[in-house]
Amino acid sequence: MIALVSLFFVSLFAPEASAVIGGDLNCTTYNGTAFVWTPSAVACSNTISDASCAILYPTTDTLGFPAAGNAAGRPLACYTTATATPAAVVQDMKTAAAANCPKTCGLCCQTDAYYCPNVAYPRLNCASITLSQCNSPAWRTIIAADCPSACGFCNQAGCVDAVTNCGTDLSICQNIGMQTFVNTYCQRTCGRCPSTTAAGSVTVTSGTCTSYIADSSSNCAAWSTNGFCTNTFYTVAQRRSRCATTCRIC
Ligand SMILES: *[C@@H]1O[C@H](CO)[C@@H](O)[C@H](O)[C@H]1NC(C)=O
Ligand SMILES: *[C@@H]1O[C@H](CO)[C@@H](O)[C@H](O)[C@H]1NC(C)=O
Repeated sequence: MIALVSLFFVSLFAPEASAVIGGDLNCTTYNGTAFVWTPSAVACSNTISDASCAILYPTTDTLGFPAAGNAAGRPLACYTTATATPAAVVQDMKTAAAANCPKTCGLCCQTDAYYCPNVAYPRLNCASITLSQCNSPAWRTIIAADCPSACGFCNQAGCVDAVTNCGTDLSICQNIGMQTFVNTYCQRTCGRCPSTTAAGSVTVTSGTCTSYIADSSSNCAAWSTNGFCTNTFYTVAQRRSRCATTCRIC
């Protein structure tokens, strides 16, 4: 009863809700004392402007909007038609919020790019992957393979660029001196993933293999650096017979 009375006074005199995530716990994790937002709750962009989202989905929480690791309550309009907590989840409200303002609403983890299973035994803890890891050349390809949901890689079928700016100059895909680099860092943009893992946006090496035959020469790394893989002086068949793996030729 005392709790009820004090709740009443809190809501009467202090419109700002206390920082507790309630109602819909999607995209949260329990940190030992409280439910807090996972990094993937807020890793995406809103579809409409952040400013519009802040008006459509105002927060009454002293902590502000959901952010990775904080316990700010989800703005009510993100998941319910009720105007106070406790509030029942209204699926329509949630669907609209996820479509328009997933970041503001802490619903990124439920959008298509973030909603897929991770592998059973990932090499890293999928729940604690940070945004900087999602952008890190050291981590991106491992995350795409093991924890696609953590970084919004669900629609990439395991094929991502290791660096994030390959697309700014597509000529590097054809540049003879850049082949070793793009084979390692621009797999998606330059179409260097084995084709079971999705085609890149620019297909340079075409084919439909799941793995490459082994190199028959031990010089492939050096030759590749010198442009062997893209040098049209050699036929595709010649390049394939010597360095199929290094040149990523099916
Ligand atoms: C997550 O969202 C789904 C669909 O809206 C809902 O059925 C489920 O209960 C939610 N899970 C949690 C833990 O709140
Ligand atoms: C869990 O999150 C709450 C709210 O952000 C914070 O106050 C608390 O220190 C966190 N606990 C741990 C064990 O990290």
